[in-house]
Parts: sequence; structure tokens; C-alpha cells
Amino acid sequence: MSRYKNIMTLDEFTIQQLRLFPHATGELSGLLRGIGLAAKQVNHEVNRAGIADILGAAGAVNVQGEEVQKLDVYANNVFIEVLRSGINCAGIVSEENEEAVIFDDTRSNASKYILLMDPIDGSGNIDINISIGSIFSVYRRLSPIGQPATLEDFLQKGIKQVAAGYVIYGSSTMLVYATRRGVNGFTLDNSIGEFYLSHPGLKIPARGKFYSFDNCYYNQVAPEIRRYVDYCMSVEENKTGPYSNRYYGCMVADTHRNLLKGGIFFYPAVAGKPDGKLRLCYECNPMAFITEVAGGKATNGRERILDIQPRHIHQRSPLFIGSEEMMEEVHQFMK
Ligand code: AHG
Ligand code: MN
Ligand code: MN
Repeated sequence: MSRYKNIMTLDEFTIQQLRLFPHATGELSGLLRGIGLAAKQVNHEVNRAGIADILGAAGAVNVQGEEVQKLDVYANNVFIEVLRSGINCAGIVSEENEEAVIFDDTRSNASKYILLMDPIDGSGNIDINISIGSIFSVYRRLSPIGQPATLEDFLQKGIKQVAAGYVIYGSSTMLVYATRRGVNGFTLDNSIGEFYLSHPGLKIPARGKFYSFDNCYYNQVAPEIRRYVDYCMSVEENKTGPYSNRYYGCMVADTHRNLLKGGIFFYPAVAGKPDGKLRLCYECNPMAFITEVAGGKATNGRERILDIQPRHIHQRSPLFIGSEEMMEEVHQFMK
């Protein structure tokens, strides 16, 4: 007897979803299968991190001026090569590539989707065996099918996402993805290399116990944000604040915890970084889409993230994201 009675695999689930749409072509399921395959390859490498020669810096600096880790390079190549050899993606924008990677071959030009990704989020955690993630965002292209994808295809508002998701390489590896229909989480059974539906229909609690903010920026943020942080942790003597602090240095891990348990994550403008640190197109938008479908909210402090028109593929944005009531609370402080 199967050890997973009534549990669906990622592939079965996406095909089942497809059947709900009589005109669906199966391309999105195929693309998600490709992402799952790439994630399994990256996961395999992450699990061998201590023994394989993949710890540490690659000796380069990326377009953001940040030190690139070997695993950043590895994961970037894996996602690009898996999706290039598939038939469901016309091109990729990645944190690790200055320009969009347009596949431009007959097979890829015939596909209707493009992808944006952060191949490894939380790279600083690789060497110390703490959770890291991969983030992805899928759009229907604007350019005509049959032609190579264009830059314009990648510069769509987040609200236009067809699907978005992340992989968390944590104490277990999970793939969580959202379409307009809902957010579902799949846990990888390493022994047979299959993702199983473990968290169907995820909904984010309206509030939770944690706030995630890098407190080292306390003196570099706007006074209203400082007041909000004071409130979160309570600066009054003999009083604890309403929330505890959790900050993993990996937005995927912090957002994943908030999605399951409720909470808020914010990376606002800080001195010298007027747009914060996180990238709109492949960090903020996909996480905002997932969170909104799950019933939460995501803004840059004023505007909804998903309504921002991107001007540059690597542009940054302040980000406030999480449980609905906690988001309302932080907005009260910023009024
Ligand atoms: P990446 O590893 O893709 O560069 O992203 C790391 C991001 C995010 O995941 C995390 O929350 C943040 O950087 C941490 O930055 P600080 O060290 O400035 O808090
Ligand atoms: Mn990142
Ligand atoms: Mn990254």
C-alpha cells in the first residue's frame, strides 16, 4: 500500500487544476513542472553543501553590487538551463543577470510565458546551514507568440502575474505557489524526489506573534517607522511589546513563517537606500501576489506593491508584507 494515501503530487495537482479550464493548453503545468525539477536539483546541491565544493563566495559581484555565492551561480544556471530546454518559457529575468535572458529558439518563442526569479534568496545563510529560498514569478508575455520575448514582457505590473511561488530549503524543502485560485504548498519527499501536496488552500492568519525587521536599521528609518518598531517591541519599562522579533536574513523564510503563523515583514527605506533593498520584480511582486491570494496585504508603505509599474527589471522597493490586521496597524503609524 502507498505510504501516501490520498496525497497528490505537484504534477497531479497542476494537471487537475488544468482540467478546470476547458481551453487550457497545459503550458503553465509544464512550466511549474520545470520549476519543480530545477528546485529538486538545487535542493540536492543544497543538501550536499558541506561536502561539495559549493560553499562560499564565487569571487564576483552581481548587478546589485553584492557578493555572489557559488550556490547563487549554480542555482541560476540550473533554473535557466532547465527552463531553456523545456517548451514553456520564452525567457528569464534573474537577479544574477544584468540583462534579460531571451531564449530565442523556435520552441521557446512558441511559448506564451516568461519568468522572473531570485535563484537563491538569503545567500548569506548558505555557509551556515540556515534556510534559503528561490522565488519565481510567471507572466503571460505581451510580445507576439512566435517572436523572441522582449523587455516589455518582463516589466508588467505585479497584478498581471499568472502564478508566483517560492521554494524554501529549510528543515524540509517545500514549494509553495499561488495562482488566482489559491495558494498551495508541497513538501519534497527527498527519498523519492517527489513534491506532495501538504498544505492545500493556504490562508494567512489575520494577525500573528512576530514582526520581522532588521533592527540594525532602527536609527536609519523614518521616525514613524521607528515609532512602529517601538510599539512592536514596547520600549516602556517592565512591559513587553505585542510582538516578538524574528529575522532570518532570508525574506522567503520570514514570509513563509508569516504565511503559516501570521506576522509582518518589512524592509523600508533606510539611510542611503531610499528604495530599501528588495527587488520589485522578482522579490516583492511574487511574495506580494502569494500573500494577497492567501488573504494578506503588501505595500511599499503607501501603494499596493502589485499596482506599481516597474521601470527597470532590477529596481528596488520598500516592502511591508503580511497579515491583514498587522498591515492596517503599520499603516496607521505611517499616516
Ligand atoms: P539575496 O540573498 O537574494 O540578495 O536577498 C537577501 C535579502 C532578503 O532575503 C533578506 O531579508 C535581506 O536581503 C537581508 O538584508 P539585510 O542584511 O540588509 O537585513
Ligand atoms: Mn533575494
Ligand atoms: Mn538572491
